[in-house]
Amino acid sequence: MLADDIKKILVSQQEIIAKSKEIGKQISNDYASTVPIIIGLLKGSVPFMAELIKYIEIDCELEFMDVSSYSGTESMGDVRIIKDLDRSIVDRDVIVVEDIVDTGKTLEKVKELLYSKGAATVKVASLLDKPSRRIVDIEADYVGFVVPDEFVIGFGLDFNQKYRNLPYVGVLKEELYKE
Ligand code: IMP
Repeated sequence: MLADDIKKILVSQQEIIAKSKEIGKQISNDYASTVPIIIGLLKGSVPFMAELIKYIEIDCELEFMDVSSYSGTESMGDVRIIKDLDRSIVDRDVIVVEDIVDTGKTLEKVKELLYSKGAATVKVASLLDKPSRRIVDIEADYVGFVVPDEFVIGFGLDFNQKYRNLPYVGVLKEELYKE
């Protein structure tokens, strides 16, 4: 069973639901006079995006992009656009949904790209924040939970594509990823 691989749970499903409600309410207030495009970064943002949008009580549109910078547990330092947007975002208010802001490189690139595509505003909602690893001076506008400098998995976050389907955020047993 997947749960047998988990050393400890950092953020429970109940906490994620409560926080999603809070952020959803904030977004509903902040974007009351516009129709934001909510862009999920595949694949890690999918569970959080699905939870969050239930609590956004204004009109919004959904889009997805796929960018990649990681293989295993360490950054390769480069961000690749794997799947671009299907529609125009010119003059639109965009909210990027991310699973975690780690070094900040992905967000920097994605924000740059979205502005170059003509977005009016770009804000970021991230389930997790790992500030201790930041290389680029960038912050999410809506943050769920700050996590310590540990490799976390679950609720969208993977280790070699596994564990995304766990309904909570946890830390993997070390013997599973350390040699
Ligand atoms: P950044 O560009 O370093 O901020 O990394 C962003 C991406 O790296 C995230 O969207 C995740 O997919 C991945 N990532 C960073 N830290 C972790 C982690 O602790 N567990 C799983 N994935 C992570």
